[in-house]
Amino acid sequence: MAVVVSNANAPAFEAKMTVYVFICVMIAAVGGLIFGYDIGISGGVSAMDDFLKEFFPAVWERKKHVHENNYCKYDNQFLQLFTSSLYLAALVASFVASATCSKLGRRPTMQFASIFFLIGVGLTAGAVNLVMLIIGRLFLGFGVGFGNQAVPLFLSEIAPAQLRGGLNIVFQLMVTIGILIANIVNYFTATVHPYGWRIALGGAGIPAVILLFGSLLIIETPTSLIERNKNEEGKEALRKIRGVDDINDEYESIVHACDIASQVKDPYRKLLKPASRPPFIIGMLLQLFQQFTGINAIMFYAPVLFQTVGFGSDAALLSAVMTGSINVLATFVGIYLVDRTGRRFLLLQSSVHMLICQLIIGIILAKDLGVTGTLGRPQALVVVIFVCVYVMGFAWSWGPLGWLIPSETFPLETRSAGFAVAVSCNMFFTFVIAQAFLSMLCGMRSGIFFFFSGWIIVMGLFAFFFIPETKGIAIDDMRESVWKPHWFWKRYMLPEDDHHDIEKRNT
Ligand code: BGC
Repeated sequence: MAVVVSNANAPAFEAKMTVYVFICVMIAAVGGLIFGYDIGISGGVSAMDDFLKEFFPAVWERKKHVHENNYCKYDNQFLQLFTSSLYLAALVASFVASATCSKLGRRPTMQFASIFFLIGVGLTAGAVNLVMLIIGRLFLGFGVGFGNQAVPLFLSEIAPAQLRGGLNIVFQLMVTIGILIANIVNYFTATVHPYGWRIALGGAGIPAVILLFGSLLIIETPTSLIERNKNEEGKEALRKIRGVDDINDEYESIVHACDIASQVKDPYRKLLKPASRPPFIIGMLLQLFQQFTGINAIMFYAPVLFQTVGFGSDAALLSAVMTGSINVLATFVGIYLVDRTGRRFLLLQSSVHMLICQLIIGIILAKDLGVTGTLGRPQALVVVIFVCVYVMGFAWSWGPLGWLIPSETFPLETRSAGFAVAVSCNMFFTFVIAQAFLSMLCGMRSGIFFFFSGWIIVMGLFAFFFIPETKGIAIDDMRESVWKPHWFWKRYMLPEDDHHDIEKRNT
């Protein structure tokens, strides 16, 4: 399999940002919106009494005796499976999706995603038992796996080169908007008895339908067509999206890139070679670190978490709406800063920033909450404020950069395979957090915040020593400009791999 994501910093070929490209970007990014909606909806739904009564009566019983133990009232493996099963399915699906992306194209892969989403929405919103509910989540997960593989590739390939970085973060922006919409929907449907949760879960059907019909309107990417030897169609598509007559240079460059990529018969094997090590290791560790910031402990379980620290059910959901809004707004800061201050500055700044927040939250909870007491209002307020400040730091750093860096550091011939591995690692660690968080909260209590603090120190140090700056570096020049001069990674840059690189840079 050899898929091509065009060069982010390639010579700027003549191109306009056409209305057609804008529409295609918006439709495709709906995939990110559904992903975000799924992330955000499960926490609210698992805090709804009607839902718990129906599927998790034991948790509901325990919840009624809140004062027994603040941290353990939600600890239930099946309840966690409700949230986490989606990510397990997405993990497997992203490899299948990487194959359909190259064999059939980006557009059909997105169509598959929307069909999976629709089936998943039907099963979860209409669930009459736990099995149906979990199977529905698995289908949603297939949708996420297909969507998260196809949409970023599609966006990168369809965007004019000079706008590619910003458009990449549009995906993350849509994820955050999806989470926010889910939080708002949770807030309102929590008061609709007894079917509010069905409406909340069914809500994902709207963007899924938009994606399904929208993906009939959008174009297949020129790269995908040329890669499958449909050169004439590819040329036509390129002319249509670029809005200029002279697309020959870009066309030739795509053909050439496809030629080189097609010589690599097994990109997964190539990923294991020394030359691939820096982006491969960084790409995978970024996913581990992104998830071990603890962000999804907050995103999935914000309402549950806020209830745990003593907010009423309504106030808890409202606080989740607040964190969701901050997540969206701070992502714009990321879009603005990423090509100005660079990636390293954002990663390092936010590590210190998030560490301070986690420590303050941990200390307040350890000191004031105890096991059974509730938190006083001022302390609860401080917790919410620091959760918001923490989310802000994540939203302009480890959130978007977890997707951006793996998409820009792999050489062309391993870019799609490397990205598929990164997506599935992300899903794996998201699964781990989703499955383990409520039990960890129960076992470690406020210590969970110190646990995440420890990880934040590790990732800050890793970023400092091992993640080089890639701002403004041509995407095919990473080897020369980034890895070869790097104090550590240079050891994997063997001379025998050089000829391939030179050939590429001359294109
Ligand atoms: C992460 C998600 C997370 C979201 C929060 C994304 O980059 O991959 O796991 O929930 O950011 O905004």
